Amino acid sequence: MKKKYYITTPLYYVNSDPHIGHAYTTMAADILARHLRMKNREAFLQTGTDEHGSNIEKTAIEKNIPPKQWCDEISSHFRVLWETLGIKYDYFIRTTDSLHEQAVQAVFEKLIKSGDIYKGEYEGLYCKSCEAFYTENELQDGKCPIHHKPVDALKEESYFFRLSKYQDQLLKYYEEHPDFLAPSYRAKELVNFVKSGLTDLSVSRTKVNWGIPVKSDPRHTIYVWFDALLNYITGRGYNPEHISADFNEYWPADVHLVGKEIFRFHGVIWPAMLMALGLDLPKQVYAHGWWTVNGDKMSKSTGNFIKAEDVVAEYGLDAIRYFTFREVTFGQDGDFSMEAFKRRYNSDLANDLGNLFSRIINMANKNLNERLPEDPSSKIYAELAALTGKIDNSIETLQFSDALETIWTAISGLNKIVADRKPWEMAKKDPEALPGFLNELIWCLRLIASWIEPFMPSTAEAMKIHLGAKKAIADGEKVKPLFPRKA
Ligand code: ME8
Ligand code: MG
Repeated sequence: MKKKYYITTPLYYVNSDPHIGHAYTTMAADILARHLRMKNREAFLQTGTDEHGSNIEKTAIEKNIPPKQWCDEISSHFRVLWETLGIKYDYFIRTTDSLHEQAVQAVFEKLIKSGDIYKGEYEGLYCKSCEAFYTENELQDGKCPIHHKPVDALKEESYFFRLSKYQDQLLKYYEEHPDFLAPSYRAKELVNFVKSGLTDLSVSRTKVNWGIPVKSDPRHTIYVWFDALLNYITGRGYNPEHISADFNEYWPADVHLVGKEIFRFHGVIWPAMLMALGLDLPKQVYAHGWWTVNGDKMSKSTGNFIKAEDVVAEYGLDAIRYFTFREVTFGQDGDFSMEAFKRRYNSDLANDLGNLFSRIINMANKNLNERLPEDPSSKIYAELAALTGKIDNSIETLQFSDALETIWTAISGLNKIVADRKPWEMAKKDPEALPGFLNELIWCLRLIASWIEPFMPSTAEAMKIHLGAKKAIADGEKVKPLFPRKA
C-alpha cells in the first residue's frame, strides 16, 4: 500500500455564493497538490460543501426553496468556480451525501456506546452565524466576536461530546508533535485555550430540523460542526461499521488547510473526536489568515466580498492565482485591493515575466531557425537550477510567497543579463555567439515555466508550447503577450 498525500480544504457553507476567501484556501490546496504531482507524489485533494444547519435552512426558507434544492444550487456554484479557477480536486464531498450521513450517524452511535457522547441539558450563548456557542467572556461588547451580532441564550436537551476528557491527551499530543498546529505563532493561543480548561461540547439540537437525525433518538439532529468535520474521513471511506479497504491509503491526512477562524474546531474538537474513535490524527492543521477589504474580513455576511469570477474575467485565471499567493505571506492577513492587483499584474506579470518571455521567444524565432537548444549545460542555467530545491521547500512548507519571490528574483536576474548582453546587437556584432546565448535563455525559460506551473498552469502551458520541439508560429509573426498590459 502506498500512502497518498492527502490534502483537504474546509467544507464551505452553502448559504451564499463563494468569494475570493473560499477560492484562496482551495487554490492553496491545488498549488500544493499540483506541485507534488509534478514530483511524482500521489496527491489527493478533497473539498466540498457544508450543507446542514439552521443558517442554511433559514436562507432556503427566505428564498422559498426547499433546503436540498438550495444546497444543490449553491454547491454547484462552488464546483463551477473551481473549474474556472483551474482547480483539480480529486473528490468533492457534500454533507448531504447519503454515505456521509450514514457514516456520521454510525459515528454518533458508536460514541454513545463508548460513553464519549451522553445526554444532558444545554444552556448557553449561541451565535447563529458561527453555529457555535460562546462563553460570556469570549463575547465582545456582549456580541459574537466574529460577526459582531447579538447572541441568543439557549436552553435545550442535548447530547454532549466528552471533550473535557481529552484535554490532557491533546496537550500531550501538541507537545510531542510541534508541527501539528501551524503556523506556530497561531498555535500558542490554541494551546492556552486548551490549558484554560475544556468543557464538554453540545453536539445535537432539538430545534434544528435541517440536519442529520440521531439514529437512536431522531428528535435530535447532529450539530453541524460534528457532522462536517467528519467529512475528512467519511469521504475517504470511513464508517465505523464498515471501513473501506483503502482508507489507510489516505488517512491520516497530511494537511488540513483552514482559515484562522476555524482553527479551534480543527485543532481541538476534531483531534479529540479522532481520539474518541481511536484513529490517527492528521499530520498538520494549517490556519491561514484573512483577506480583508479596507481592514474588514471579506465575508458573505458583511457583503464586502470580491468575486473571483469577476477578477478572472478581467485579468485571466493565472493572475489571481499569482497575486493572492505573492502579495501576502500564507498565514498572515492581507488587504485585497484591485489597485494593488493591477500594480502587480503590470509590473510582475506583464513586465518582468511577459517581456522576458516575448523578447527571448521573438529573438529565438528569428535567429534559431529549426535548431532548438540541445542541452542546458551553461553557467546561467546551472545557477538558476540550483534554486529548485529552495522553491520546492517553500511550497512544501506552504510558504508560497517565498517560492514566488525566489522565482521572480531569478526572472529579474535574467532580465538584467539580457539587458547587459543585448542579444539584438549580438545579431550584428557577434552572430556566432548569438545562438548559444539564446539556447541558454530558452533552457532558463523552460525551467521558469516548470517552477510557475503549480501556481500558473495555463501560463506554463502557453510558455511550453513556444519552448517546445518546433516553432509554434509562422515566420515574421510575433508571439502573443502572456499578460497584455492593463491601462
Ligand atoms: O467555516 N479570507 O465554512 P465557510 C481568507 N463550513 N479565507 C477565507 C475568507 C477570507 N476573508 N473567507 C472565507 C465554514 N475563507 C465551515 C467549515 S470544515 C469541516 C467546515 C475560507 O463557508 C477559509 O478557508 O464559512 C475559511 O476558513 C473558510 O473559507 C470558511 O468557509
Ligand atoms: Mg465563515
